[in-house]
Amino acid sequence: MKRIKAIYPGSFDPPTNGHLDLIERGSKIFDELVVAILRNPEKDPLFSVADRRKMLEAMTSAFDNVSVDTFDGLTVDYALRLDARVILRGIRAISDYEYELQMALMNRKLQPRLETVFMMPAEKYSYLSSRLVREVAQLGGSIDCLVPELVAQKVREKMDVAHKFENGEPPAGNTPSEKRKNRKKKA
Ligand code: PNS
Repeated sequence: MKRIKAIYPGSFDPPTNGHLDLIERGSKIFDELVVAILRNPEKDPLFSVADRRKMLEAMTSAFDNVSVDTFDGLTVDYALRLDARVILRGIRAISDYEYELQMALMNRKLQPRLETVFMMPAEKYSYLSSRLVREVAQLGGSIDCLVPELVAQKVREKMDVAHKFENGEPPAGNTPSEKRKNRKKKA
């Protein structure tokens, strides 16, 4: 029987519980699922691609048939390189539909051999997006229950650094006393 490989492409900046929900659903349907992070030099992301990869790897370590990768260029070209047949995307609400339909039809035009499969995350995540997670965290709101704890921790660290920077404090490891300590350690 033919094994079906799917890719789940996205920005994942940061990965959320909604993404994880979709990954879990996808892992039950497809033989292999590759979570594919777009390397997009035009965007100004909160997390580097390497950080996002580490977070997603940790979040998906329990799923034997899920792996994490990065790509650039066209999603369809990447899917074909991997010999994947399916592009998995999540649809949360009707507002996602128009953009997702446009993308799916363009991908079909570019590469008719690929199918886009839409899945819905649990209703409790229907309002959740990476953009809102970033915004809530930046404005000091709680993001617990929106992202896995390991992601929440990383977001908090980012916000701490940004907060210190805004207040004119040098980033960690760069204060005069820390520099002295580091010099001593190296000596
Ligand atoms: O998580 P996102 O930002 O909604 O993901 C969008 C993504 C990465 C799936 C989309 O921008 C994409 O596929 N980009 C790769 C370039 C490409 O193939 N563009 C044509 C899409 S029709």
